[in-house]
Amino acid sequence: MAESDEQYDALGQTYERAKHIPTGLAEQATFLSALPDLAGRSVLDVACGTGFYPRVFADLGAAEVVAVDSSAEMVAYANHREDKEPRGIKYRQLDAAELPVLGGFDIVTAVWLLGYADDPAALDRMTANLAANLAPGGTLVVLVPNPDADFDVLAGPYGRYGYDVVRTGSATFRQPVSVRVLDEPAFAFDSFFWPVGAFEGALGRAGLVEITRAPTIVPVDERGEEFWADLRQSPSFAVFTAKSN
Ligand SMILES: C[S@@+](CC[C@H](N)C(=O)[O-])C[C@H]1O[C@@H](n2cnc3c(N)ncnc32)[C@H](O)[C@@H]1O
Repeated sequence: MAESDEQYDALGQTYERAKHIPTGLAEQATFLSALPDLAGRSVLDVACGTGFYPRVFADLGAAEVVAVDSSAEMVAYANHREDKEPRGIKYRQLDAAELPVLGGFDIVTAVWLLGYADDPAALDRMTANLAANLAPGGTLVVLVPNPDADFDVLAGPYGRYGYDVVRTGSATFRQPVSVRVLDEPAFAFDSFFWPVGAFEGALGRAGLVEITRAPTIVPVDERGEEFWADLRQSPSFAVFTAKSN
C-alpha cells in the first residue's frame, strides 16, 4: 500500500481534524455504538492511523489494546502520543495484507482500511487476516466507504458535514474518489468505494457469521435532525459487524 502510505505520511498530524467535523462525529457515534462493551477485553485495531480509536478503546476500559498500521509515520506519531499520555497501547508497523496472527483478540477493528485493498483477492486476504486474529466468539467491526452511497449527495450537500467526496475516474471493481476536507487548511486524500455486497462477501468467505450492518447514528446536538438528513440518507461510511465461530 505504498500509495496510501505516502499520502498519510504527508497528512500525519493533521489527520485527526477529520474526526471532529460533523461527518467525523457521526462516524464516531456509529462506529462506537457498534462495538461490544470493551471493559476488560482485548482489542486489535488494524490501520490505526494516528491511534485515535486505540486511545478511545483504552479510555473505555479495554484491558489490552494492540494497534498496527502500515505507515511508519502514523505508527511514530501514535507512539509519540503514547509516550506523552501513556495508556499501555502497543503499536506495531504491519501491513494488513500480510498481517500475522498476533493473538486471539475479543474484538478486532479496522476503520477505513478495507477500501484500500488493491483488488478483490487482496480484500479477501485482508479480511481473512482480520478474522484470524479473533478469539472464538470474538467480534470484528469494520468501517468502510458506504457501498450504497449516493455520489450526488456526497459531492454536493454533504459538504455541510465538513468534507465532500468526488469521483476521480471510472469504476472498475471499485470507484476511485477524492475526499476533500473543507475546513482550513483544506486537504484531500484518495479513497475507494466498493459495490454493494463486496464487504459482506469477503466477511463471509473469511468464515465469519452474523454479518450485520450497524445503524447510522448521528450526534444529538443543537443542529437538530434536519441538519443531519442528507448524512442519514447517504453517509460516506458504513459499519459492519461479524462474529467468529
Ligand atoms: C483514513 S486512515 C484511517 C486511520 C484510522 N483507522 C482512523 O480512523 O483514524 C487509513 C489508514 O490505513 C492505513 N493503511 C492503508 N493500507 C494499509 C494496509 N495495507 N495495512 C495497514 N494499514 C494500512 C494508512 O496508513 C492509514 O493510516
